Amino acid sequence: MSTPSTQVAIIGGGPAGLLLSQLLHQAGIESVVLESRSRAYVLGRIRAGVLEQGSVEVLRAAGLGERMDREGHPHDGAAIVWAGRHNYFIDCWKYVGKRFTTYGQTNLQEDLFAAADRRNAQVLDEALEVMPMDVTSARPCVTFRHAGRSQRLDCDFIAGCDGYHGVSRSVMPAAVLKVFEKVYPFGWLGILSETPPLPNLTYANHPRGFALASMRNPMLSRYYVQVSLEERIEDWPDERFWEELKARYPEELARAIVTGPSIEKSIAPLRSFVAEPMRHGRLFLAGDAAHIVPPTGAKGLNLAISDVYYLARALTSYYRDGSSTYLDSYSAMALRRVWGAVRFSWWLTGLLHRFPGMSDFEQRAQECELDYLARSQHAQASVAEQYAGMPFE
Ligand code: APR
Ligand code: PHB
Repeated sequence: MSTPSTQVAIIGGGPAGLLLSQLLHQAGIESVVLESRSRAYVLGRIRAGVLEQGSVEVLRAAGLGERMDREGHPHDGAAIVWAGRHNYFIDCWKYVGKRFTTYGQTNLQEDLFAAADRRNAQVLDEALEVMPMDVTSARPCVTFRHAGRSQRLDCDFIAGCDGYHGVSRSVMPAAVLKVFEKVYPFGWLGILSETPPLPNLTYANHPRGFALASMRNPMLSRYYVQVSLEERIEDWPDERFWEELKARYPEELARAIVTGPSIEKSIAPLRSFVAEPMRHGRLFLAGDAAHIVPPTGAKGLNLAISDVYYLARALTSYYRDGSSTYLDSYSAMALRRVWGAVRFSWWLTGLLHRFPGMSDFEQRAQECELDYLARSQHAQASVAEQYAGMPFE
């Protein structure tokens, strides 16, 4: 066994892990990223595509703005349509002076790898059996297998950026960890197609269920429809998908949807999940390792970015000034933002979906809330503020 060492061992090379290593590098802090999958696999995942202005600013400051500013598409807000009746625009620009940007997580992941390559970063992919050890001691380490060899990486801190199914959270003792969870009784069937998107991100609440029209670039559209969890992808040929999607939009929008062959199709379940605290000894959780939101508010990627921003600031302050203040407040500070987004995503999910077994009362209350939103500037301002993303502390 060889025993190299680094300042921060980062488990997981998704957006959270790679962005953290980039921010630490800018602050002169060394890190090693251990990713269990191959680079091709990580780049092949189709994920979110909406960046809050705060996220865009963090990425720019991290030196990752060039392609995002060129290819990303800024939006003043997003539309909500329901029952073929109302159009309501969540106007982030009008109410909070912020825009958001549509830019695929896949592209961001490419940019993060490119930046890591430019600075000769240590990113080990296909690192297997990764295990954080001695996290409550002064000198933790991570053991793993790479290229057929068992290795141990000694470090000062471990960042658990290994997503919902990762190993990091599991080393926190049950007595320490409190988990909050809500599973929704439906999923999203999503497709990518090389067709021009609708001009606005458009959420639909319809008696047949929720739908969303989104985009990646001027010739790449992303669409979703709410489906029951029993649905199988084989039963959704493209024609059925397009027909169902169009049925959930008012006629004029349905006519504007340009159809074509799908280049990706998948069903994702919806879940809200928070693990508290986000720190145990010298192990810090960030991103999906600590929390999951349903995609309705497009907050998942943005939370990964804000966690990592807080964590990089805390580690920088520790190494530069010898101060543990930000490290000690990391969990509480990150969780305040996380819970804000978790609550908002849960609320927006409730507003826009048809829940199986919804009573007439619940149905009317939902319609009433949508009508209230369409009429009240105060309600609109509150939604716009949360959709645009709350400021960082
Ligand atoms: N060892 C090493 N790496 C691991 C392990 C492990 N045991 N388990 C998981 N990983 C890797 C995964 O292969 C993945 O590349 O950790 C990475 C975690 O990345 P993401 O799941 O993308 O999570 P995160 O970086 O927090 O980004 C959150 O992803 O799911 C979306 O909506 C979410 O957009 C948000 C973003
Ligand atoms: C997406 O483009 O994939 C997307 C956009 C907005 C959401 C969820 C997903 O709320």
